[in-house]
Parts: sequence; C-alpha cells; structure tokens
Amino acid sequence: MIDLTALDRDGAAALLRFYRDIGVETLVAETPFDRFAQSQAEFSRPKPPPPKPVEKPRPAPIAPPVKPAAPVRPAAAMSQDAATASAREQAANAQTLDELREKLAAFDGCALKNSATQLVFADGAPDARVMLIGEGPGADEDRQGKPFVGRAGQLLDKMLAAIGLDRTKVYIANVVPWRPPGNRTPTPQELALCLPFVRRQIELVAPDFLVLLGACAAQTVLDEKEGIMRLRGHWRDYACGGKTIRALPMLHPAYLLRAPLKKAEAWRDLRALKKAIDHVGAF
Ligand code: URA
Repeated sequence: MIDLTALDRDGAAALLRFYRDIGVETLVAETPFDRFAQSQAEFSRPKPPPPKPVEKPRPAPIAPPVKPAAPVRPAAAMSQDAATASAREQAANAQTLDELREKLAAFDGCALKNSATQLVFADGAPDARVMLIGEGPGADEDRQGKPFVGRAGQLLDKMLAAIGLDRTKVYIANVVPWRPPGNRTPTPQELALCLPFVRRQIELVAPDFLVLLGACAAQTVLDEKEGIMRLRGHWRDYACGGKTIRALPMLHPAYLLRAPLKKAEAWRDLRALKKAIDHVGAF
C-alpha cells in the first residue's frame, strides 16, 4: 500500500495523474461506511432548540429576520417505499414524454441524481416503432445529456446501421437516467425507483419492438432473473397500456467491445429484429 502521508505535493499530484490515466474516477476507503444509515440518523435526530437571539448593544432599527432556506432533504432520507410510491404517482401523471422528462428531472427520490451531472432522458424519435433500452449513462452520456454517445454508443450506431436503422428512426433510453458513480451497475433499489418512469416512457412511445440491451435492462424491464446469455435472442411479450409489445433482449454493446467474438450472437439477434420489422412493415 502507498503511504500517502510520505508523499510531498509533487508526489501526490503524480499519483492523482496516474489514477486519472488508468481511469480511476472514484476513490473508496479501506473500510465500508454506511452513508444511508448516517443520513437516516441525521434526518431523524431531533432538532436542537433555536439559539437565543443575541442582544444588540444599539437600539437601532431592526432588520426583518432572514427566513432560513428550507432544509435540503437528502434523497436517502426518503424511505424506499415513499420514494417508489412518489415515482409511480409522478410517472402515471405524465401525459406526454416532455411532461415525463420534467417530472423525472424534479424527482428527488433516487440518490443517483445527486452524483450525476444531469438527467439523461432519451434520444431519437418519440414516435419510433423501435425502442432500445440500455443500463445507464456513462461518463460521455453524463456530460452530453444523451444516451449512448460514447464508445458503446458508436458501436450501437454501427449495429443499427447494419439493419438499415439510425438514431433518427429509433428511440433510445436507459433503465436509470442518471450516471451511477464510477459506472457501477445500478442497485436493485435504484432500478425499482426508476422503473415506473421507464414503464411510462415505454407506454408513451408505444413502439412495436423493444430491444433490451444487456442483463440489467432485460432483467429489469421483463422482471426476469435469468442471465443475458439465456435471455438474448428470445422474443418476449411485454404488456403495456393495453398493448403487447414484442421485446428482444440482446447483448450490450459495451460487452461486445470487451468480447468481440460475441458479435456473432449480436448479429443473429439483429437479423431477427430486422426480420420482425420487415414482417410488420414498420419502416
Ligand atoms: N451504456 C448504457 O447502457 N447506456 C448508455 O447510455 C451508455 C452506455
């Protein structure tokens, strides 16, 4: 282990540059620390009585008291049940995709919002016949506010082009709309909180085909436990707003970048999608 106390200013700067160059973006301590428990405790701790006003020596005209700013309620302090109920209500009340985006932007129940730069809602055509759903924004998406614009997104563009599609003809979103810190997989709690918004987003787009990219999206949307290697390539019915949408789990492009040999499977699934699209004459 590096003895950090032995580092001088230049040494510390060199170490930070090294971490940045190898892609380390998040630093964690040696021992785990439960910040949820801490913020719960802080939130439920009784407030101390207000301090006695300090007597002013001069009987000057007294300025009106400044109203203290409303306390910012940490997202983690809202119970999961309360936050999920609020997510359901907000999502159900959205009548258009613009309204849904506004409600999601104002939703404080998911702590991912606190560490993300911005909301990454969607890209593409709101009336698309094909909707693709990924896991969550990465660093590039967090910066640009659009899903799938980094390396995985460039591969996704090529995959779409291979079957005659592009971003203007499809609608792209994620199961969580805020970047998880350090690109970690979203937790089951985060996924559950965002799911009502994703369901409503699917309902409002009302596509004919849903493409679920990777295990996280496929398992979350289809409420499945199977791994992506078993799920991929098998059509499912997704019931939504009185309509049945055909859903196809596929391998995530980020995975294909790491395992290029799996592109053969992805190509097979893309051909199945193309065949289904051609069959209904969606384009
Ligand atoms: N990976 C995802 O799942 N979604 C994005 O938007 C980018 C990368």
